[in-house]
Amino acid sequence: MWRKRSWGCHRQEWLVARIKGSSVGYDAVGVRVASKMYSRSIWRARAVPRMLTASRSFSARAAASTGWRLLSSRAGAGAILGALGVGGYLYYDQLPTRQVFPERSTTPLATLESPLYGGEKELKLAVLEIQRDIGKENVNAQEADLELHTDNQLNYTRPRKDYKPRYVVYPRSTADVSAIMKIAHKYSIPVVPYSGGTSLEGHWYSTRCGIVLDTSRMNKILRVSPDDLDVTVQAGVGWKQLNAYLQGHPGLEHLIFGCDCGPTAHICGMINTNASGMKATKFGPMKMNVISVTAVLADGTVIKTGRRPRKTSAGYNLTGLLVGSEGTLAVITEATLKLQVKSPSETVAVVQFPTLTNCTKTVSEIFKKGFQLNAIELLDSEMMKLVNHSKSVSKEYKEIPTLFIKVGGINKTVVKEYLKELRAICDNHKAASFEFAKSDAEAEELFTARANALYTMLEYCYTDIHEDAKLWFTDVAVPLSKLASTLEEIDELCEKYPMKHAMVGHVGEGNFHYNLLYRPEELEMSKEVVSKMVDIGLRNEGTCTGEHGIGLGKRRYLERELSPSTLDMMRKLKLALDPKRILNPDKVFKIDPADEDNHLSAGEPKELNT
Ligand SMILES: Cc1cc2nc3c(=O)[nH]c(=O)nc-3n(C[C@H](O)[C@H](O)[C@H](O)COP(=O)(O)OP(=O)(O)OC[C@H]3O[C@@H](n4cnc5c(N)ncnc54)[C@H](O)[C@@H]3O)c2cc1C
Ligand SMILES: *[C@@H]1O[C@H](CO)[C@@H](O)[C@H](O)[C@H]1NC(C)=O
Ligand SMILES: *[C@@H]1O[C@H](CO)[C@@H](O)[C@H](O)[C@H]1NC(C)=O
Ligand SMILES: *[C@@H]1O[C@H](CO)[C@@H](O)[C@H](O)[C@H]1NC(C)=O
Ligand SMILES: *[C@@H]1O[C@H](CO)[C@@H](O)[C@H](O)[C@H]1NC(C)=O
Ligand SMILES: *[C@@H]1O[C@H](CO)[C@@H](O)[C@H](O)[C@H]1NC(C)=O
Ligand SMILES: *[C@@H]1O[C@H](CO)[C@@H](O)[C@H](O)[C@H]1NC(C)=O
Repeated sequence: MWRKRSWGCHRQEWLVARIKGSSVGYDAVGVRVASKMYSRSIWRARAVPRMLTASRSFSARAAASTGWRLLSSRAGAGAILGALGVGGYLYYDQLPTRQVFPERSTTPLATLESPLYGGEKELKLAVLEIQRDIGKENVNAQEADLELHTDNQLNYTRPRKDYKPRYVVYPRSTADVSAIMKIAHKYSIPVVPYSGGTSLEGHWYSTRCGIVLDTSRMNKILRVSPDDLDVTVQAGVGWKQLNAYLQGHPGLEHLIFGCDCGPTAHICGMINTNASGMKATKFGPMKMNVISVTAVLADGTVIKTGRRPRKTSAGYNLTGLLVGSEGTLAVITEATLKLQVKSPSETVAVVQFPTLTNCTKTVSEIFKKGFQLNAIELLDSEMMKLVNHSKSVSKEYKEIPTLFIKVGGINKTVVKEYLKELRAICDNHKAASFEFAKSDAEAEELFTARANALYTMLEYCYTDIHEDAKLWFTDVAVPLSKLASTLEEIDELCEKYPMKHAMVGHVGEGNFHYNLLYRPEELEMSKEVVSKMVDIGLRNEGTCTGEHGIGLGKRRYLERELSPSTLDMMRKLKLALDPKRILNPDKVFKIDPADEDNHLSAGEPKELNT
């Protein structure tokens, strides 16, 4: 009987869409890979109940092993099976998990009660204890500081007026974080982890008005190993800080951290959003650049997800689970990261194309030929119009789709060879122009149009549209082969609206920012466009977020992207690790059946029937 019951995986859910870059929820694929083997051993464990009872029962263990021996003899089999059945049942019933969790693999929202958080009294007590443990000077309730941790002024995801933290706490060490979490757990106080504050979708808004845990004062670089190409840092080290440190230390200048994103972002924030950026084409997003982390769980337990080797098959991939978890599962306090080696020789090529399709076909062929580029960025014709308009670059480009490519190699000769090949591919696809830099200075100059794209857009917003105009960064991602048609569909959509738009894409990952430049009064319209844009992305086998993550702003899109059961499984993981639901409540998915999607000041976009 129990043999039949133990396997049950007939239907496979699609856990993620078929794309390379994604910041969607928890990395269920990674966990599943690691757990595949494990589920087999579970099967065996069921067959031998001693595994269930672990070391707590010597007698059951002894009985089971005798059982195996006796099973081979026909005579003993019947009696032993009966005995095993009774023993197994007793033990099964006593498993503590059985009382904590209902017997199911997922947690649908409807099966939950609303979380119960501590009130005013508990908050006061908790803060007193936190002050005692980490020092008064590291607990702040000053208006300006609370304000700073309330909102990052991105108009499209402003928090509701009443969403404001009550205290900001600044731990200095893993022990501090553990102390804070123990106390918060005891009094059921919501805790929102925060570091650089640059995330774009309301990732750290205080929907439950408790404590913001700011790791920015944990900013020490603890260890660098140039021989192993890795580094251990405290959570609040900025990626720019890390690169500046490497640049400034003799013997480390050739090293670089492989991910970049918002200029003031910190490593732990980047881990929590699976950030990527321009270098991801070569080095991958955060997921590929994190070796292991030290984390504090909701009840204050400190764990380390691994040691220092780059490759391991030791148990579940908890590093992978925490990457992209947006502060909902644990607080990261330290991380061991890979370092990358800068190309000894690098140059920049700028290639313009008559059509988007020509352009993406070129990119696809470059990858199919096995080229490893340092960066490949696409600016669409609208963006090139802004570049021309801004006069911020010395060159005048045609206002057509343009690729900015960084090619690297071990010496100039090699780079030159690459360029020759690259040029041939571009010519095959009817490139309108192909330019490359002959010196480092020229390379930097050629790349400026891409490097300054953000400032170009912002300046256009403020000076040419409206002094209160805003920029909405979107980050849908699709498989490369769908990129051109997806962008065309989105262009067509945007034609119907008055807002300006400009696209900058990390095409290597099929990840693009189709940004809207909107006047204050166009906010509602912009929401509608973004919602439709996500639908177009999803229809093209894409994801609603290639690198920014879900936060509050994209929660409803995640519901469209993944099946309800997949979200219910994420919720189960959340509850397993954070049973009181105190860590960054309401982010990524709902944890409260009473949640009515009214977390943002102007409300979230209405459900559209597209
Ligand atoms: C101008 C600009 C450009 C950007 N460009 C890019 C880009 O190219 N690529 C890209 O991927 N993103 C980009 N972003 C988005 C943003 O920079 C990234 O999402 C970044 O990873 C956020 O890091 P942060 O330190 O600011 O995190 P925060 O905003 O402070 O937090 C991000 C999330 O991590 C959680 N968190 C923070 N600290 C901890 C911790 N110690 N433990 C557990 N959870 C924690 C928070 O609760 C939150 O959910 C850009 C943003 C801006 C403003
Ligand atoms: C992080 O990005 C990688 C590669 O783009 C992807 O495979 C992985 O699923 C992502 N993880 C999460 C949690 O989004
Ligand atoms: C585990 O996760 C880390 C970080 O996301 C990743 O670098 C590593 O490749 C993963 N390992 C496996 C076996 O999936
Ligand atoms: C590239 O563009 C040219 C001219 O617009 C067109 O004739 C050709 O078919 C395109 N080629 C590819 C491969 O997209
Ligand atoms: C650049 O913009 C100017 C006006 O702003 C325009 O006259 C010119 O034609 C544009 N250049 C190209 C190559 O489109
Ligand atoms: C560049 O590297 C290639 C490949 O290793 C080698 O064959 C060549 O001699 C090198 N050229 C120079 C100028 O160093
Ligand atoms: C945000 O948008 C609203 C309109 O929805 C506008 O009134 C307000 O001025 C904007 N705020 C900022 C800071 O741009």
